[in-house]
Amino acid sequence: MSSQTPYKVLCVCLGNICRSPTAEVILQHYCDDHQLNVEVDSAGTSNYHPNAVPDQRSQKHAKKRGYDLSALRARQIQLQDFIDFDLILAMDMENLSDIKLLEQTALQQFSSNQIRAKVALMSEHDQDYPKQALPDPYYGGEDGFERVINQCESSSLAWVHIFKQQSKA
Ligand code: 4NP
Repeated sequence: MSSQTPYKVLCVCLGNICRSPTAEVILQHYCDDHQLNVEVDSAGTSNYHPNAVPDQRSQKHAKKRGYDLSALRARQIQLQDFIDFDLILAMDMENLSDIKLLEQTALQQFSSNQIRAKVALMSEHDQDYPKQALPDPYYGGEDGFERVINQCESSSLAWVHIFKQQSKA
C-alpha cells in the first residue's frame, strides 16, 4: 500500500442498498480514523436498485450509531472494477462466488496484469465473526440491521489492522 495513491476497496452485496453501503461507510470511517489512505466504494452483484438511496431501515439504524448513508447511490459491479480496485470484499458466500465468476469474465476480456483486485470476504480476518457471511437483512426484522452494523464494525477493524501491517511492509 503506497502512501500517495489511495488503496481502493469495493464492498459488494446483492442489492447495494443494505449491507454494502453500511460496510462502505463504516470501513471508510475506521480507515479515516486510523489515517489510512484508503478509498471505499460499494456495489451490488444485481442491478435491482440502480441509483437508489440505501434502504430506509439501513439508514435509520446506521444514523442511530452515528453513520450517514444518505449520500450513497446503488450501482451494479462492473468488469472495470477489477481493474480500478485493489480489494473487492464480498458480504456473503453467494456474493463471493458471483464476484469470482465475474472475475473469470474480466480475465478473459483484459490481460491478467491489468486486473488489480484481490477478492475476499468482508469477515476474512474478523475474529468475532470468522469468515462468516453477513446475513441479508432485507426480508427480516430490525435486529438484522443491528447485526449488519455490529459485524461491519468488527470486520472493518480487522481490515484496518491488516491495512496497517501492509502500509508498514
Ligand atoms: P443487500 O440487501 O444485498 O444487503 O443490499 C438486499 C436488498 C434488496 C434485495 C435483496 C437483498 N432485493 O431482493 O431487492
